[in-house]
Amino acid sequence: MIATEKGLGALSRFSSFENETVENDSAASRRAALAVVPSALAHTAERGGVSGKIAAYLETADLPSPCLVVDVDIVEQNWVELARSLPTAKIYYAVKANPANEIVSRLAGLGSSFDTASMGEIDLCLEHGVPPSRLSFGNTIKKERDIAAAFAKGVRMFAFDSMAELEKIARVAPGSRVYCRVLMECEGAEWPLSRKFGCEPQMAVDLLVAARDMGLDAYGISFHVGSQQTDLSQYDKALSHTSSLFAALGARGLDLRMVNLGGGFPSRYRTDVPTISAYGEAIMTALTRHFGHSLPDIIIEPGRGVVGDAGVIQAEVVLVSEKGGADGRRWVYLDVGKFHGLAETMDEAIKYRIETPHDGKETSPVILAGPTCDSADILYEKADYRLPVDLVAGDKVRILATGAYTTTYSAVCFNGFPPLASVCI
Ligand SMILES: Cc1ncc(COP(=O)(O)O)c(C=O)c1O
Repeated sequence: MIATEKGLGALSRFSSFENETVENDSAASRRAALAVVPSALAHTAERGGVSGKIAAYLETADLPSPCLVVDVDIVEQNWVELARSLPTAKIYYAVKANPANEIVSRLAGLGSSFDTASMGEIDLCLEHGVPPSRLSFGNTIKKERDIAAAFAKGVRMFAFDSMAELEKIARVAPGSRVYCRVLMECEGAEWPLSRKFGCEPQMAVDLLVAARDMGLDAYGISFHVGSQQTDLSQYDKALSHTSSLFAALGARGLDLRMVNLGGGFPSRYRTDVPTISAYGEAIMTALTRHFGHSLPDIIIEPGRGVVGDAGVIQAEVVLVSEKGGADGRRWVYLDVGKFHGLAETMDEAIKYRIETPHDGKETSPVILAGPTCDSADILYEKADYRLPVDLVAGDKVRILATGAYTTTYSAVCFNGFPPLASVCI
C-alpha cells in the first residue's frame, strides 16, 4: 500500500518500553532487539543493491512512477549493525533522513531514540508512541514557541550553537539538558554540513558555562563530521578537539557528561565504503585514546547509514535525445530529478548507481536530467555516467541506495508533477 497514514502496529513487539525510564529503556529494548534479529535478516544483495524482497516486489507491484520502495528489514539490520558496532552508544535516528511511518515504528520498536529537527518530527515520533525522554530537539535553529511546545510535550534535550538560541531555551525550557554543537570542517564528506551549524570551540566553552549559570543542565558537546563521511580519521580528529573542550570546561568547574558524534555513516553508492564495524572500531579506538576508560555518555545520530541502502527508486525514461554539441553525448531525461527527491545530486555530490533493463550491453556516455522545465534539473553532467545505447523512452530504471534524503526533498507540485511516491515493504 502506498500510504503515509500513521500506524502503531509495529510497536507491539516491544510494547512495554513506554513505561520504562530513560536510563533503562534504550539499553533494555536494544538488548532485546539484538537477541531477536535473525541472521536471515542479513542483506540479501550486496550492500546498496536491490534486496531480494524489493526485487520480488517490483516484479508484480503496480506502482506510480517514480516511486521509492524501502525494505524496512534492511533499515532494521542497519540499525542493529550500528548498535552492535558501537555498543556503548545510544542511537538517535535522524528522522529527517526518512520519516516514513513504517521506519519510525520499526526503529521505535527496536528501542531507538530520535534526533528531531522540528515540531513536525517530534509529533510524528510521539504519535508512534516514542516517549519524549527518547527525543532530542537537535536543530540549532528553532523558534522559541517550538522550544516551548516541545518542552510542554516532555522533550528535555536541546541543541544550541549560539547565545541567542541558549537564551531562548533557558526562557521556555528551564532546567533542560543542553548540548553545544561545535563547527567541523567536514573534510572528505560527500555531503558536508559545515559552516551553517556549530560555533567555534572557544565559544562553546563560554556558552556551556553560561548554560550552567542560566540553570540549564550543560550536558555535552555535539559535532557532525559531514554526511557520507568515508574518512574514518575525521572522527578521531573531532574527538580530539572534543576532549580538549571537556578539559577546558573541567578547568572552569564544569564536568560535561556527553559526546554526540552526529552522523556521517555511509550508504554504498558508486564506490565502496568502509563497513559499519570499521566505523565502530575507529570510533571506539578514538574514544579510548581521547577519553581513556571513563567514557562519557555517547550518542550517535545516524540517518543515511540506517535508511540509505534500504531504498530503491523505480523511475522511467521520458526521452533519450541527441542534440548535437555536448560532446555527442546523449541526453537521458528521467521522470525523477532534482525536484523529486534527487536533490543530493546538487553539484553532483551524491552519485547514485543506476540499473537499466539493458545492463551488460554496450554503453555510451550520457548527460542525465530530470523532467522539469528548470535548467538546474540536471543530475549528472561531469560525473562520467554511461548508460546502455539500447535505452529508450518508457524503459524502467532503478536508482539504488535512495532511501535517505529523497522523499523529504521532493517538491509538492513543481511543474505540476506530484511529490515522490514511497512505499515501505
Ligand atoms: C544534527 C544532525 N544529526 C544527524 C544527521 C544525520 O546525518 P547522516 O545522514 O550523515 O547520518 C544530520 C544530517 O543532516 C544532522 O544535521
